[in-house]
Amino acid sequence: MKAVVVERYGPPEVLRIEERPTPSPKDNEILIRIHATTVTSADWRIRSQTVPTGFGLIMRLVFGLRKPRQPILGSELAGVVAAIGRDVSRFQVGERVFAFSDMAMGCHAEYLCLSEDGMVVATPPGLTDEAAAALCFGGTTALDFLRRAKVRPGEKVLVNGASGAVGTAVVQLARHFGAEVTGVCSGANVDLVRSLGAAHVIDYTKADFTRNGQTYDLIVDTVGTAPYSRCRRSLKDGGRLLLVLAGLPEMLQGLWVSLTSRHTVIAGPAAVKREDLRQLAALAEAGDVQPVIDRRYPLDQIVDAHRYVDSGRKKGNVIISMRDQA
Ligand SMILES: NC(=O)c1ccc[n+]([C@@H]2O[C@H](COP(=O)([O-])OP(=O)(O)OC[C@H]3O[C@@H](n4cnc5c(N)ncnc54)[C@H](OP(=O)(O)O)[C@@H]3O)[C@@H](O)[C@H]2O)c1
Repeated sequence: MKAVVVERYGPPEVLRIEERPTPSPKDNEILIRIHATTVTSADWRIRSQTVPTGFGLIMRLVFGLRKPRQPILGSELAGVVAAIGRDVSRFQVGERVFAFSDMAMGCHAEYLCLSEDGMVVATPPGLTDEAAAALCFGGTTALDFLRRAKVRPGEKVLVNGASGAVGTAVVQLARHFGAEVTGVCSGANVDLVRSLGAAHVIDYTKADFTRNGQTYDLIVDTVGTAPYSRCRRSLKDGGRLLLVLAGLPEMLQGLWVSLTSRHTVIAGPAAVKREDLRQLAALAEAGDVQPVIDRRYPLDQIVDAHRYVDSGRKKGNVIISMRDQA
């Protein structure tokens, strides 16, 4: 099979397309023929080892000290079951599925084996492979943070970085849960963020949301520019600050704030459940959450796709279409 292989950390040019043996499913695994995958901010972070303050060594210990232990990146996919292990009972050959391999990665290839008990579910008929693949990374992160914050109908939620993969999902899910959403993005993305259900949109190049006198029940920072020290006056009494992106100092400060004030800071990696994928797929089928797809690249343009993601300017998700290879 064709796979995108990373043998050393570095810029997008370290990526190579190589022939690798097609894996065989173990007894409890399914072999998935991948039709669509994505390049996410996680792929950029792991490939380039660009990590939040304080996580450099931890990242190297997890992903490989001198080079990536898992040389194939990519954490979300949609495709079709090509073969099953002999103990598999939940899936059949030919069934459409989508999956989130998370930190195990491996989706930038034509095939991947996953445990049938892992983060893999059937793709509903109303969902394209591209949409299904693009649901996982941003959607599961948004769902987990909003769940931890116990967002309630009528609450005011501000999303800093509303146009990225996580931000576009937070805007739509918060709105779905009945919140009044304010999105913060650049002027170029104002219409997009409004179309996702934000009642108010602030262009960060023209206005500072921490200085407009408004207060929010929840502030979700997906960019790393809204630490507690900057936005505490914008939080209501009992308000929660969700730091999707935070360095170790902000996380430690968040613990202290949560212990000593009427505010709560929620940070750290998102915890993901298989049920989340089902919930996101059902919401997408119903039209309540639409994964935003910015650009599409064939597998052989993976370097260009990474360059674009590295720019930090993508809107929602960047798709790698594997079917263009066929
Ligand atoms: N805690 C977790 O478990 C977890 C899970 C997933 C992701 N993350 C982290 O969350 C962060 C966001 O991920 P992502 O995939 O959503 O990123 P992304 O899609 O790459 O974000 C790109 C978006 O950020 C916007 N942006 C850049 N600077 C901004 C600013 N100063 N203010 C407002 N918007 C700005 C850009 O819009 P403009 O071009 O308009 O500026 C662009 O649309 C990443 O750092 C990632 O590592 C954490």
